[in-house]
Amino acid sequence: MARIQTKSSVEKIVSYPLGSSPEELKEKFNLMAVRKMSDNENVYGCSPEVENSISKAMNSLYFYPDGTVSLLKRKLAGFYNINQDKFLVSNGSEEIIRLLTRAYISPGDEAIMAQITFPRYETNVLIEGGSAITVPLQNGTHNLNTMYAQINKKTKMIFICNPNNPTGTIVGKTELLQFIKTVPSNILIILDEAYYEYVQSADYLESISLLEKKPNLIILRTFSKIYGLAGLRVGYGIMDSEIVNELHKVKDVFNVNHLAQAAAAAALHDQGFIRECAEKNAKEMEFVSQKLNDLQVGFFPSQTNFIYIFSQYPIAENLIANGLVVRQLKLEGYLDAFRMTLGTREDNEAAIDVINKLLNEKAV
Ligand SMILES: Cc1ncc(COP(=O)(O)O)c(C=O)c1O
Repeated sequence: MARIQTKSSVEKIVSYPLGSSPEELKEKFNLMAVRKMSDNENVYGCSPEVENSISKAMNSLYFYPDGTVSLLKRKLAGFYNINQDKFLVSNGSEEIIRLLTRAYISPGDEAIMAQITFPRYETNVLIEGGSAITVPLQNGTHNLNTMYAQINKKTKMIFICNPNNPTGTIVGKTELLQFIKTVPSNILIILDEAYYEYVQSADYLESISLLEKKPNLIILRTFSKIYGLAGLRVGYGIMDSEIVNELHKVKDVFNVNHLAQAAAAAALHDQGFIRECAEKNAKEMEFVSQKLNDLQVGFFPSQTNFIYIFSQYPIAENLIANGLVVRQLKLEGYLDAFRMTLGTREDNEAAIDVINKLLNEKAV
């Protein structure tokens, strides 16, 4: 059969690398169990309040979901004390990235982003025929000065992933504030804060209050990470209501399913669970960072529930062969680089044991 040509912008897209499933890995390495430490999910699950909300929502599965996501939007508006018309709830925050590029990127437009960051920014820009202008990180962190210098007449949007995935780093408060203030108002600044709730640093910019004066600012958050609802697909953006209206034109009508809406509202209500998870995660981050320092293994200081590790030894391969599934990445100058989602103390100890053994063997 003759190949049916896709549109030219799609030809050059590389599909997102999903990696092997836990079942495939068990079979390949003859393992009893695997620990999934590759997708930055919350190892502690979700709030116990979610189960009840889902049970109740089961009674009305034969209806389409509420296309306006009214209950959840009302709860979010109350939680942040911001008008409801500034929220767009989505099928994961990834959907908002897609809607933004769909609505605002035309062929020839440019979007500035970090060279090593969440790959969906670039993919969605390319799909719309735009160009991704990628700027190298500096010590694993966004280089805002260089990003600013890339602005020109073609620039339509700038992505800042804060904290950055996969490096886990944040940009300094003062520097980011200055950047947001000086970017021209006809360019969208998309501040992706998927890991916001994990951040412990005092040098992190609380961006919400800037929305009032900066109608070109868009903040993305999600229920997939600390809220533990990745499997339900629900995220949201907070932005000027005019942008919300534009995105409504290009979104699917029933984009957030019924169970997801109910679960997210319950999860938002249980802030005690969120605080508990953030505290446990911070302790695990300290534990893992300390152990890696002791073993003299390189990593970027992370404000998230994952850590980016790099080495001249094949650590990632060894972790995977031992049933600890991490996400392999590339970092110039290193044989091995990977992102490891933090697990429970037991998971993290298991990972450190594997690294320790490998380094001891190499030292012999
Ligand atoms: C930085 C960042 N943004 C957005 C997302 C998308 O999250 P979701 O679509 O599950 O809300 C992720 C998921 O890994 C992420 O790491």
